[in-house]
Amino acid sequence: MTVSKINAITVPEDAGDELARRFAARAGTVDDQDGFEGFELLRPTDGRHQWLVVTRWRDQDAFETWVSSPAFAHGHAGSDRPSPHGGPVSLSSELWSYEVALGSATEGD
Ligand code: HEM
Repeated sequence: MTVSKINAITVPEDAGDELARRFAARAGTVDDQDGFEGFELLRPTDGRHQWLVVTRWRDQDAFETWVSSPAFAHGHAGSDRPSPHGGPVSLSSELWSYEVALGSATEGD
């Protein structure tokens, strides 16, 4: 069963664009990871400061293998370097774990 692993990153007010820029320049090593099914970086549009990195995996094992792999370390090589404003791009982060309980998808027009 596909699992969703969400990294909820609390971002300083002035560092959102920097976080987005870094993801745009990301290593991409996760894309070749066995069992990786995709990810989205979600930008808050209601004034909150939590950005969501939503990743989908074939199963729990696939995610755990990635987190303990060199690919994860490589993908995060620059994640703690300060932003151009001098501060961090993330103040804190939480890992949330979900699976699809129910869903529906509409056919494209
Ligand atoms: C300590 C907590 C974490 C922080 C602060 C963090 C932050 C970041 C940042 C800033 C990047 C952009 C790459 C860079 O700047 O070099 C990145 C890449 C990424 N992060 Fe995290 N991350 C953390 C943990 C996680 C976790 C637990 C997940 C999984 C749910 C995750 C998923 C990803 C993915 C998929 C990428 C792209 C990697 C690639 O392209 O290979 N991160 N992270």
